[in-house]
Amino acid sequence: MPATLGKHDMANQGQEIGLAVIGCGPIGRIRSELARDYPGVGWLGICDIREDLATDLGQDTGANFVTTDAAELLARPEVNAAIIATQETAHVVPVMHALEHGHRLFIEKPLAVDVRDSEKIAQAIEAAGVDAVMGYTQRFRRRFLTVKERLTTGQIGNVTSVSARAMLNRKIAEMCLARANQHDTTTPVVISGTHVLDMCLWLLDGKKPVAVYAHSTDHIFGSAGSKDATFAIIELDDGGMLSLNHSWVAPLVWPGAVYGMQIGIIGEQGVIDIEDMHRDVVLASELPQGAGYKKGEADEAPRHVDFMGSIPFGEYAVGQFWGPVREETNAWFQRLYMGQDTPHTTAREGHQNLLLCMAIDLSAKRGEKLALPLETDDFYR
Ligand SMILES: NC(=O)c1ccc[n+]([C@@H]2O[C@H](COP(=O)([O-])OP(=O)(O)OC[C@H]3O[C@@H](n4cnc5c(N)ncnc54)[C@H](O)[C@@H]3O)[C@@H](O)[C@H]2O)c1
Repeated sequence: MPATLGKHDMANQGQEIGLAVIGCGPIGRIRSELARDYPGVGWLGICDIREDLATDLGQDTGANFVTTDAAELLARPEVNAAIIATQETAHVVPVMHALEHGHRLFIEKPLAVDVRDSEKIAQAIEAAGVDAVMGYTQRFRRRFLTVKERLTTGQIGNVTSVSARAMLNRKIAEMCLARANQHDTTTPVVISGTHVLDMCLWLLDGKKPVAVYAHSTDHIFGSAGSKDATFAIIELDDGGMLSLNHSWVAPLVWPGAVYGMQIGIIGEQGVIDIEDMHRDVVLASELPQGAGYKKGEADEAPRHVDFMGSIPFGEYAVGQFWGPVREETNAWFQRLYMGQDTPHTTAREGHQNLLLCMAIDLSAKRGEKLALPLETDDFYR
């Protein structure tokens, strides 16, 4: 028997979802395909500033409406919910348009790449009173849900320390830097470390960071205005601590396609040790192995060994997309259509994640331990 049964908000049940998807890159595509297959989605609108991508995805999903203008789509009377799947630096404008119409929101991480923008979004969401969640997909993996349950039910007692190490294939960093216009905030912590940070804070269940000290290296991406790796130690309000070691410069030949992590959780009465480097299913081939979620990528990849399952959000197999993005997206549809309580990261938590990521980067930049929380202006001094 589960320790807790999910709550349902009966008032919201059964209202057909009129969905707008803004951004037709790999992530917008996957979520749109899932929307096409969810019975509660009665109307689907697709938008990308790149007409070719919008048209392709519109055709593949049989969308009701396709446009290159997000404001036009979000103003349609059929729309009552929106997925914002634009690249990291382009969430703010479509989110604000969606809020003007009171649409429920699913926003990809990070909420923004600027503290004031993130604050603006968080405040606007609260003022509009809309339900807004974010794409922190790792929460929807069974292993982490199970760990969360064991911690919540006190199986290792009060948690006193968490140490997390995460490593990304450099391919992802190159892709994110290529599409960003702000490289000083396109850092390993803000763009990808935010996933492991969200996981740790979620597992720590309300413990608050009160100070941070961090250090970065920049041998490879320094010339592009970014960082290679950042290690941080975070003090928590109950005297506990969290260490976060994050690097996004594993070489292109590293067998992990995207993300691998290890998290050690020490409690007063026990330990949970999570090995999530995906070394359990290994492929070796004379043929190149791509990341598997962008068309044509395999042809250019220098990798010949693949940790299968190392795309942590899932992948296509036998004609459909499988993995935690599917669980996460369908759970959001359940949230909208069935009024079901779900473990999604809220936009408010996403904002807190961004503030802590930015504080880590600021501590590394200044070489100083910083007391938290910081005032907004501290980030701009
Ligand atoms: N949840 C996860 O596990 C996960 C995994 C990968 C990426 N992401 C996040 O998902 C988001 C999208 O990632 P991606 O790899 O698909 O990005 P992408 O850059 O490939 O696609 C983004 C698309 O948005 C379009 N776009 C930009 N501004 C627009 C606007 N104003 N109106 C309409 N379209 C606009 C771009 O033309 C582009 O096609 C990012 O925030 C990324 O960090 C999440």
